[in-house]
Amino acid sequence: MSATSRHALRAASVAERPRVWVSQPLFDDIVSRLHAYFDVVQAPDVREHDEAAIAAALREVDGALVTLNERIGEREIASAPKLRAVANVGVGYDNLDVGALQSRGIVATNTPDVLTETTADFGFALMMAAARRITESERHLRGGKWTGWNFKGLLGADLHRSTLGILGMGRIGQGIAKRASGFDMQVLYHNRSRLPADVEGAYKASYVDFDTLLARADHLVLVLPYSPQTHHIVDAAALAKMKPTATLTNIARGGIVDEAALAEALGSGRLAAAALDVFEGEPAVDPRLLALDNIVLTPHIASGSLSTRRAMVTLAVDNLIAALGAGPDAGRPPTPIVPVTQGGDAGKRAGAA
Ligand code: DGY
Repeated sequence: MSATSRHALRAASVAERPRVWVSQPLFDDIVSRLHAYFDVVQAPDVREHDEAAIAAALREVDGALVTLNERIGEREIASAPKLRAVANVGVGYDNLDVGALQSRGIVATNTPDVLTETTADFGFALMMAAARRITESERHLRGGKWTGWNFKGLLGADLHRSTLGILGMGRIGQGIAKRASGFDMQVLYHNRSRLPADVEGAYKASYVDFDTLLARADHLVLVLPYSPQTHHIVDAAALAKMKPTATLTNIARGGIVDEAALAEALGSGRLAAAALDVFEGEPAVDPRLLALDNIVLTPHIASGSLSTRRAMVTLAVDNLIAALGAGPDAGRPPTPIVPVTQGGDAGKRAGAA
């Protein structure tokens, strides 16, 4: 083969390489696996991409590795004719319009399982911090307000032998129930559908309706997916049904709780304490919440251990490679949001390397 035809062949194979967009800097050593199959357009720094920026980034690519900061719906994909796969780094995928992606044959994936235990650990820690007033106590001490051991100072509520309410009994909810058994807590849960008896038995968890959960929980933890149906499911009316001594912990999504109603309930003593890792207008936090002492506020870090965040990126990269028809699992992404159907598989159509 002549040098000219070798060059032409190389140029053609380079031109055929699918292109992917990585929306945020993640872990370079993991993301670099994409280079074996694709040309990678990497966002150089952490940034908020608006609709126009996302649409522009998707215009020329076959796939995208995105985080919950990127909303991808009809408008963002309208001018992206080549787009075949969107891999979300996160288990929650309310940032994706899965219906719009599906109707265009775009495979969407998420990262379940790998973050379950880490997120359950953090949910438990937040619940405990709210109940035992840990961050409030620390502020008290650091603020120079501690004048000596005080028998009645900063008294909190026990977790052990109390009643735990779990709203959303998926993998993370079950992880929290598992931890609760070490604290001899009674576990009640409410879920879209009741779990099989053997699963309930394994977690010693009893199914109750939503109102009963609100009324009986000493500590209520929210672990359900966000959707139009769950928007503000914990509103003023729901909060009014809770015990005034109860705590509320949210590690799901901000929009599930009506934050104004929560601030009112905490401020008036209608509810003892709360802990939020997620907020409706992230990264903005309602100033009424910031002004309260009886709330623990963390910046959406429930899955944020180093090894878990690395595992999430690893899974998302595996998903993207496979969904684009490349790698050992070509056409079979490990965790598609909607099962990839035979023949309707965007990955196989792609015929990527
Ligand atoms: C998720 O995965 O949905 C979390 O909120 C971010 O880790």
